[in-house]
Amino acid sequence: MKQFSAKIYKTVLLALLLSIGINGCKDDYVSVVPSVYVNFTVNPTNIIELNIPGGSYYFGNEGYGGIIIVNNWGDSTVPFLAFDASCTHEVSSLVRVEVNENGSGIATCPECGSQFMIFGSNGSPIKGPAIEPLKQYHATVVGGRISVTN
Ligand code: FES
Repeated sequence: MKQFSAKIYKTVLLALLLSIGINGCKDDYVSVVPSVYVNFTVNPTNIIELNIPGGSYYFGNEGYGGIIIVNNWGDSTVPFLAFDASCTHEVSSLVRVEVNENGSGIATCPECGSQFMIFGSNGSPIKGPAIEPLKQYHATVVGGRISVTN
């Protein structure tokens, strides 16, 4: 029975990841995380973690559940990524994923253990129960500053 429900979960997750993978990168993808106005800039030279490939920094006063900016391993086209820390399983501004310290590029939810890939990805879940990706914001470098917007 346990094997059967695990199989169902994997099948549902795979089907959803495929649809999210196809739609998630479209600008019209609507996240389960409530929409809040986001528009701030950061000078990465002031935050050592953002100068380290794979490093990340959490901005608690931005976004719905705070925003995690990730150094995308120096990727020349997408040097930084920005995700709302609010877990997409609970969808609460108080339940926030935390970036694993081991440089794995995975963020884990302390509530029920869902894991999300945050390097080179759209924040897709890689371990449940969450099935929706983290809410992603636009992160661009303008004049040496990281600009994060909706
Ligand atoms: S609240 Fe995050 S995995 Fe359940």
